[in-house]
Amino acid sequence: MRSDLDVHLCEVGMRDGLQNVADFMPTAEKLAWLEAEAAAGMPEMEVCSFVPPKLIPQFADASEVCERALRIPGLTVAALIPNLKGAERGIAAGVHKLSFVISVSESHNQRNVRRSREESVADLRRIVELVRSLDPKKRPKLAVGLSTALGCTIEGNVAESEVVRFAEIMAEAGADEIAVPDTVGYANPAQVRRVFKAVMAAVGKIPVAAHFHDTRGLGIANSLAALDVGVRNFDACLAGLGGCPYAPGASGNIVMEDLVFLLEGMGLKTGVDLERLIKCREIIARALPNVELHGGVGKAGLPKGFHAATPQARAAE
Ligand code: COA
Ligand code: ZN
Repeated sequence: MRSDLDVHLCEVGMRDGLQNVADFMPTAEKLAWLEAEAAAGMPEMEVCSFVPPKLIPQFADASEVCERALRIPGLTVAALIPNLKGAERGIAAGVHKLSFVISVSESHNQRNVRRSREESVADLRRIVELVRSLDPKKRPKLAVGLSTALGCTIEGNVAESEVVRFAEIMAEAGADEIAVPDTVGYANPAQVRRVFKAVMAAVGKIPVAAHFHDTRGLGIANSLAALDVGVRNFDACLAGLGGCPYAPGASGNIVMEDLVFLLEGMGLKTGVDLERLIKCREIIARALPNVELHGGVGKAGLPKGFHAATPQARAAE
């Protein structure tokens, strides 16, 4: 995390958002989004998935998008990978971070990546080996997302002891970061406090990131709960896009603009210029006219006299 920021944000809309959008977003529009949001100060963006293009045609241009993203100075470029082949493609593209996924619920792992959790763990170990065989200067960071950690639409409740057990396995296997997602928007703030505290205690110094979906309206409340117990890494999506195509009933991530409004209003520096971030919504509206844009602050605008912790372009002009 950059030392000048209080909270590290990662825009996951180009991955989590677009994986659920049937219309192909033209590469030029993806690049416009990327450039505009990076220019608004977003420190990290997950820009694609290295999955079979036959399965998710939206990411057929993954390598090209990464190549352009990597030219933006200061932007950390992440990509989702479901298996070793994805890691090989991500490494060839030169991304800074590979985000591997495994589900805590066996049924979701089967549905999402067509293998057992044990097979996914074995794959992760092979990926760690591959990453460690690279020249240290060229090694991407390896993040692991524990999908369905806070609930599963197929299995229902997910045992907290299982979440901790998988977090420990990931830490021991060599993950540099662990994300605890609420893939299908089941969590409440009390659960978030318990699970994140337990996971953070189990994995020591490894950063633990929150990834919330707002399916049942508690996404921002859950973010505040995670913040309260010390989480400083958050994923979110511009305009609240998102959802897992392999989790029935999954819907959008928490809205990045609302999260930045919450954090900056509370005096926490994110590095993001909120007005410029809100302007980025226009790119989605233009490129994906069939997609609904979510978010309170994007619709209502900033309050009069709003004071952000990060210096804003308009204030500086
Ligand atoms: N990128 C590109 N091609 C890949 C690939 C990858 N990451 N992984 C596998 N393939 C190719 C194989 O080479 C093989 O190609 P071939 O038919 O030409 O020989 C084909 O895809 C099938 O490979 P296999 O290993 O049998 O994969 P699978 O059919 O069991 O699918 C996954 C497994 C992991 C690739 C697939 O389930 C997946 O991509 N899931 C991710 C879903 C997702 O993105 N969910 C949302 C994010 S949480
Ligand atoms: Zn998600």
